[in-house]
Amino acid sequence: MGYSIAVAGKGGTGKTSLCGLTIRYLTEKKSGPILAIDADANTNLNEVLGLHVHASVGALREESLNTIRSNTERPGGMSMEQLFDYQIQQSLIEAKGFDLLVMGRPEGPGCYCAANNIIRKYMEKLADTYPFMVVDNEAGLEHLSRRTTQDMDLLLIISDPTVRGVMTAGRIAALVDELKLNVKRSVLIVNRAGEGLCNPAQGGSGNGQDGKLQETIGAQGVEFAGFVPADQLIFEYDLNGKPLVELPADSRALTGYYAILDKLLA
Ligand SMILES: Nc1ncnc2c1ncn2[C@@H]1O[C@H](COP(=O)(O)OP(=O)(O)OP(=O)(O)O)[C@@H](O)[C@H]1O
Ligand SMILES: [Mg+2]
Repeated sequence: MGYSIAVAGKGGTGKTSLCGLTIRYLTEKKSGPILAIDADANTNLNEVLGLHVHASVGALREESLNTIRSNTERPGGMSMEQLFDYQIQQSLIEAKGFDLLVMGRPEGPGCYCAANNIIRKYMEKLADTYPFMVVDNEAGLEHLSRRTTQDMDLLLIISDPTVRGVMTAGRIAALVDELKLNVKRSVLIVNRAGEGLCNPAQGGSGNGQDGKLQETIGAQGVEFAGFVPADQLIFEYDLNGKPLVELPADSRALTGYYAILDKLLA
């Protein structure tokens, strides 16, 4: 089983952006292919990675799912396992240094939980063949009860630089403990942080707000991994629809985040 990393956090905190940068980091600094999974039904990790999505697991045809459920005849006499292996392979989007699997939504009516449930088993099998797996999740807590977050080596809980945001992150960490998920290490990362938080020594932060935030971070009972600076370049890339993974190597957010990953993945 490879090393697995997932993100959690409230809406818009930067989960997808940091997933993209994590994938870039791994391709640059670690060896072996990476399996990237976009587990957010509102697919957008591919945009950060600069990839076009031609297939998604959720779009596996309802027919095939029915076949699996009812355990009736399968095309070409394939076993259930072969059929799913085949379909998952078909849904893989191959890129340089990594493959992307998009969960997406099913076509037509019906709950995509069913698809997720059946497919998770095959995902795990697939994940076994990659040294690293990175999973982007939707906002909120619901995904914590899903297998995509249940067996993880590292859970990155991403917050914005606000007291309320950090408290939400703390609640997510507490829930992970409560649900007894098999998450080996959960850490808090505060994204889009101002200068005073990132470089308090260089003339920031006597500022009461930063102090209150630091205090709140310390009170959450979850390991704090660091601040990722707010970066105007990310805003510009977004505005122009440029993939974030193409950020220059010296961009603030990228260097700040890489320093965090250097420590976490040493
Ligand atoms: N360090 C940063 N500096 C500046 N802008 C950032 C930074 N990180 C993320 N952003 C911007 O914040 C917005 C939200 O980011 P992103 O989509 O990654 O969040 P998310 O947590 O995945 O959102 P959702 O909950 O909707 O999935 C985007 O416009 C992104 O470009
Ligand atoms: Mg996202």
